[in-house]
Amino acid sequence: MAQIPYGPTYDEMLHPDRIEKDVREAALNVREHEGDPLNLFNITWKDEAGRVRKIVLPKALTGVDANIVVMLGKDFPSGSHKVGPAYATLMEGCVDETLIPGERTILGPSTGNFGIGVSYICQLMGYEAVVIMPDNMSRERYARIKRYGAKLDLTPGTESDVILTLERTHELTKDPRNFALAQFELFPNYRFHRHVTGGSAVEAVEGIGNGRIACFVSAPGSAGTLAAADHIRTVFPELKTVALEPYECSTLTDGGRGQHRIEGIGDKMCTLIHNVLTTDYITLIKDDESVKALKIIQDGASIMKAQGVSDEAIEAMKDTFGVSGLCNILGAIKMAKYLHLGEHENVVTMATDGFDRYDSVLEELEKRELELEEHVLSRWFKDIFLEADTRHIKDVRSKDEKERLFLQKERDWLKFGYKKSFLDAMKSQSFWEAEYEKVAEYNEKIKQKRGTKLP
Ligand SMILES: Cc1ncc(COP(=O)(O)O)c(C=O)c1O
Repeated sequence: MAQIPYGPTYDEMLHPDRIEKDVREAALNVREHEGDPLNLFNITWKDEAGRVRKIVLPKALTGVDANIVVMLGKDFPSGSHKVGPAYATLMEGCVDETLIPGERTILGPSTGNFGIGVSYICQLMGYEAVVIMPDNMSRERYARIKRYGAKLDLTPGTESDVILTLERTHELTKDPRNFALAQFELFPNYRFHRHVTGGSAVEAVEGIGNGRIACFVSAPGSAGTLAAADHIRTVFPELKTVALEPYECSTLTDGGRGQHRIEGIGDKMCTLIHNVLTTDYITLIKDDESVKALKIIQDGASIMKAQGVSDEAIEAMKDTFGVSGLCNILGAIKMAKYLHLGEHENVVTMATDGFDRYDSVLEELEKRELELEEHVLSRWFKDIFLEADTRHIKDVRSKDEKERLFLQKERDWLKFGYKKSFLDAMKSQSFWEAEYEKVAEYNEKIKQKRGTKLP
């Protein structure tokens, strides 16, 4: 007989101290046993002591006065925070009794981390999973997905060909047994990040600078993470929200659609769940700089030390970021400069995952760049971090810019059967508030139904 899996509410993911004490303790004890479903209770930004996992970047690295606070996603189960939206979507389906484990196969269109999150969560919650992703992503991703027992359905291309995965997914959903965990379209992704990531971001700056958040920076893939800003703004109304894009694939800036190397972001669309009303700036980051910056963090200890970065900070940063994390860090530095933020002000950004899935990306860099001596890395360090410029920042706060982004969204989503009236409703903030209010409903439903048997 099918059973609703036993997992946390949105509130418990934000405040793990509200989980029943023995469940929380048991969950912390099974962290080394990835396959134990109690790990669902480890889906949180917080460590054992209840503190948000984060790094405040050394100023010798950033070269700016403002504090850059990077929230760390790598210690979520499965190694990235993308597991959160995957869990939230399935759990909502479970308690609504539309997605019963054993009855449905879950399709996860993805460029990697979400697919890893989906395959992992499906294993814990008892669903079959098929991950649909481009065939040219870093090999570490495929290995993890297989390890978690999901099937792979590969479409041609790389990061920028995610649209092909969507088309393939829409084809497969013609079979009613299949359910697409469509991260670009489904609002649990918005709810998870607005409530859990946004609430955690507010806590992450406690005791740092003025304790407020002046700027939130995130490079959207699905734009789920960006939703954190919709919560942060309710606490710190001065917030500026910044979406980053690869310079090589500037879809939101000007419709650009090139190939790029920053896995997980820049998916050639304005996603359905992207609340463009609250995005203030769109900033372009070069993919090559993000990869080179990662090389410096991983292998440039002596260079950072020579520039005044402490041994402790060098150690703390190693293995802690992936390519998109460096993209976010470079975006945060640019915005701190552009907004002239002072030493008491905070910029918050994310590292979605850690280095464990990017060895092959640095190997590829090493093949491309024949010269990798210290003096070359040292030049990169100065050019990329300390001398980051404020070019390619677009202010999208005007009505005209919002209209342009709404049009982009229509071009991207009418073709998948969404009605114009639905897309028009998103032009009002009340649409987003109504979606967010469902968090309280689901908190209650999850509490009542978790672990129960279905008729
Ligand atoms: C490595 C990486 N960075 C960033 C993102 C973007 O996050 P979001 O989908 O919440 O916008 C993703 C999404 O899959 C990712 O895998």
